[in-house]
Amino acid sequence: MSLIKWIDFPALGDERGSLVALEAEKSVPFAIKRVYYIFGTKTGESRGFHAHKKLQQVAICITGSCRIILDDGQQRSEALLNSPNKGIVIVDLIWREMHDFSKDCILLVLASEHYDESDYIRDYNEFQEILGN
Ligand code: TYD
Repeated sequence: MSLIKWIDFPALGDERGSLVALEAEKSVPFAIKRVYYIFGTKTGESRGFHAHKKLQQVAICITGSCRIILDDGQQRSEALLNSPNKGIVIVDLIWREMHDFSKDCILLVLASEHYDESDYIRDYNEFQEILGN
């Protein structure tokens, strides 16, 4: 089974254009404590390469595209993020990597916790050990 869990964010568009609303504990399945965005990623650069012990996130590529790989220690799934109307949910203990950023990519991330470096698992072998693999 794929690790990719999509959320659809319907565009509340009219003749003027489009609008997407993100609501904590409604369309976004947790209380949002932090929002950040990744942009200006240089061609050929990849990001991520970590998991979190206790953090839920939703990632939405609001402009441009990138490819994301999710890994639960048993299997890897990948998805192309290329729509402001679709996000993916990333739960605890999922290794993530983002590749192939388009020049114009803006990757918006909603997070359930404040930034905490001690929540990061940045070593893939340590990730496997924490999972008991
Ligand atoms: P990092 O999480 O390593 O980026 P990615 O995994 O997406 O490639 O973050 C890069 C830097 O930004 C690192 O020094 C930590 C800092 N940072 C914050 O201060 N607050 C945040 O909310 C995030 C996500 C990162």
